[in-house]
Amino acid sequence: MKPCRWFDPDRGHIRNDQSSIIHKQIITMEKKGLNLTLKIWRQENAQTKGEFKTYRIGNISPDCSFLEMLDQLNEQLVDKIEKPVCFDHDCREGICGMCSLFINGRPHGNDTGITTCQLHMRRFKDGDTIWIEPWRSAAFPVIKDLVVDRSAFDRIIRAGGYVSVNTGGVPDGNAIPVKKKNADLAMDAAACIGCGACVAACKNASAMLFVSAKVSQFALLPQGKLEAKERVSKMVARMDELGFGNCTNTGACEAECPKEIKITNIARMNRQYYISQFA
Ligand code: SF4
Ligand code: FES
Repeated sequence: MKPCRWFDPDRGHIRNDQSSIIHKQIITMEKKGLNLTLKIWRQENAQTKGEFKTYRIGNISPDCSFLEMLDQLNEQLVDKIEKPVCFDHDCREGICGMCSLFINGRPHGNDTGITTCQLHMRRFKDGDTIWIEPWRSAAFPVIKDLVVDRSAFDRIIRAGGYVSVNTGGVPDGNAIPVKKKNADLAMDAAACIGCGACVAACKNASAMLFVSAKVSQFALLPQGKLEAKERVSKMVARMDELGFGNCTNTGACEAECPKEIKITNIARMNRQYYISQFA
């Protein structure tokens, strides 16, 4: 077997000359960490005025996530006895929908089909300036810094986003036949994680994509048909009451939705709504 020219079998470690090359490579890699300027929205609460504050952060690994970069900033701020930046997060896996950040003018940053927690720093360049804001919508008031109150979504769900029939025990998978196409569409609609990016992206702050996804996931299945009329009219009424705007078909919500929910759901909800009002 040809001996490895890097490995010294007598000494049991990497040859000195080679180890110094590797050491230099590691140093070079470390030097490739990103140096960034962050313009972050700071706001004490919904009653006070907010403003952008500038922070400089260095040596950020391109492999870390956007939220890990903010964690590092907060560690530095705490070390300096300054208030850390408040931001929402939970699962950090694209599941919970908590990480609601407007980054460089786009909800969840400049990638598509991902949440902020799935955004990696390799998407930025050394020397970049990054603007970080909370969701902007009257229905989502700022709690502090980058954290907004999205309980308006919960109130819409409470108005009708459920099935109230007694389903008993777990039924056999084939007990209620569901067309494959409908099952797939219902599953796609159910992928909505309630992050609110659709509202943040929409110039009207419309919540139609969110509400239509929740209406559709039931409307497409036999279990949801029983309360279909009541559900859609109550959910739409609550959405309007809470101050969300109307849809004007710009498609911004679909373009920015991390779960790629389709605006065809809005058309389905509108059909359901007309039926509920006139049929
Ligand atoms: S429709 Fe998309 S953008 Fe809107 S809340 Fe659901 S997952 Fe988020
Ligand atoms: S923290 Fe859960 S989706 Fe980002």
